[in-house]
Amino acid sequence: MTKELVFSGVQPTGNLHLGNYLGAIVNFVKLQNTHHCIYCVVDLHAITVWQDPAELMRNIREVTAAFIASGIDPKKHIVFNQSQVAEHAELAWVFNCVARLGWLNRMTQFKEKAGKDRENASVGLYAYPNLMAADILVYRATHVPVGEDQKQHLELSRDIAQKFNNDFADSIKAHGFAEKFFPQPEPLITGPATRVMSLRDGAKKMSKSDPSDYSRINLSDDADAIAQKVRKAKTDPEPLPSEEEGLKSRPEADNLVGIFAALSGKSKQDVLKEFGGGQFSGFKAALVDLSVHKLGPIGAEMKKLSQDSAYVDSILVDGANRARAIAAETMNAVKDIVGFIRKA
Ligand code: TYM
Repeated sequence: MTKELVFSGVQPTGNLHLGNYLGAIVNFVKLQNTHHCIYCVVDLHAITVWQDPAELMRNIREVTAAFIASGIDPKKHIVFNQSQVAEHAELAWVFNCVARLGWLNRMTQFKEKAGKDRENASVGLYAYPNLMAADILVYRATHVPVGEDQKQHLELSRDIAQKFNNDFADSIKAHGFAEKFFPQPEPLITGPATRVMSLRDGAKKMSKSDPSDYSRINLSDDADAIAQKVRKAKTDPEPLPSEEEGLKSRPEADNLVGIFAALSGKSKQDVLKEFGGGQFSGFKAALVDLSVHKLGPIGAEMKKLSQDSAYVDSILVDGANRARAIAAETMNAVKDIVGFIRKA
C-alpha cells in the first residue's frame, strides 16, 4: 500500500450502465490492490436534480450493491453514502467561498445539464463541482479514478486546492501544517473505455438519462436484454478494420471494439487482430457472449443484494463511520486555518 489515497464517487440516479462500469468501477476494483480506497455513493450530488425520495433510496442501495457485486471489498476499503458524512457539505461551503464564478461558468457539464432553461436550474447544480472538490479533498485524496467526462471537474478541484493553499498560506504555516495542505488530486482516466458511447449513436455518450434504453447496457440487465441491445447496436456497412487507425471516423465500430477490449482486458489492437476483416455479425455474437459472461454474475449478485437492504445499509453505516473519522480531522484543521472557533 502506498501513502496515496484513492477517492471516487458515483451518483445514485438510476440506470447504472456499462459506461459507469468500464469507465470507473472496473478501475475502482483494480486500485484496491495497490491503494487505500474510499468509494462514495454521492447522494448529495443526486439531488441537484429533483429525485423521487423512495427512488433515491433504492438507487443508493443499488449503487452500493453494484460496488460490492463488482468486487469492491467494503471491509478492507471504505464504501458509504455521502449524506452520512456532514463534512462533505461543510467543506463544500468553504469551497463555495474559494472558487470563482468565472471558473464555474466554464463547466460544460452544467451547460449540458441545465440546457436552455438555465434560470430554472438549481443553485446546487451550478455549485456541484465545488461539492465534488470537497468530496475528494476532505480526505486529502491524491488519486481519483473517473471516466473522461469528469476531467474538467477534476481540474477545478485542483484549482480550488491550490487557491485555498495560497489564500491561507500564512495561517497554514502558523498552525504548523504542511505548505501544501490540500494535495493536487490526480485524475486516473485509464483503460480502453474511458468514454463509452451510446449504442444507438456513436457521437453521444452512454448516459443514464438517455430516453432510449437501447442506448445503454444497464448493470441490472439480464442475458436476454444484453443480447438484444448488442444485436441492435448501430454499426456501419464496412467490415471491421485490422488496424486501430481504421477505427478513426467510425465512431460506432470504435465504441464496440473499445467495449470488447475493456471487458476482455485486451487492447483494441488485439481485438482487431482477432476480428479485423470480419463482419459485425460474428463480432457482435462474440460480444454478446463476453458481455453476458462478464456482466451476468454482477447483475445476479446485485439482485441478491437488493433483497437484503439491512445488510447493504449496515455497510454504508460502517463505511460512513470510518470516513467521518478522516473527514472530521481535515475539517477541524480547515476551521483552524480559516479562523473559526471550535470546541477543542
Ligand atoms: P456519474 O455518477 O455520472 O458517473 C460515475 C462514473 O462513471 C463515469 N462515466 C463514464 N465513463 C465512461 N463512459 C461513459 N459513458 C460514462 N458515463 C459515466 C464517470 O466519469 C464517473 O467516473 N460527478 C461524478 C460523481 C462524483 C465524483 C466525486 C467523482 C461526485 N463527487 C468525486 C469523483 C470524485 C458523476 O456525476 O459521476
